[in-house]
Amino acid sequence: METFEPNILAYCCKYCAYAAADLAGSMRMNYPGNIKIIQVPCTGRVDVLHLLKALEDGADGVYVAGCLEGECHFISGNLKVKKRVLQVKKILSQIGIEPERVEMFNLSSAMGPRFAEIAVEMTERIRKLGPSVVGLYQRRQAAVN
Ligand code: FES
Repeated sequence: METFEPNILAYCCKYCAYAAADLAGSMRMNYPGNIKIIQVPCTGRVDVLHLLKALEDGADGVYVAGCLEGECHFISGNLKVKKRVLQVKKILSQIGIEPERVEMFNLSSAMGPRFAEIAVEMTERIRKLGPSVVGLYQRRQAAVN
């Protein structure tokens, strides 16, 4: 049987998570290639619609990785997106999609190993959940066309 390899999108703040991803790379740390990183100037830029659209476009999971609480360069961007992630989790529950497909993490630029851990954690989590119904539908439609 074929193993399910999830598509996961990560919105990473350029000051912390994106730099941590770079550090993980420099440290030659292994993490799954399932993660597609989108660099954002601050996670406060990530909206509810960005998270929902990622799922609609076929991502099986999506997460936001921002600065540690109290260390956002734009003061409260990471706190604002934390609330949005919770809103999206609620919306997903209401429409019958597992809320665990969306998550928020906080880390510093020095936390390369933590970045790799998060990538592994999310990949394993989404593998257990299986393909998102939306992603599955998108893939079937693409195969038909
Ligand atoms: Fe990193 Fe705001 S600057 S989350």
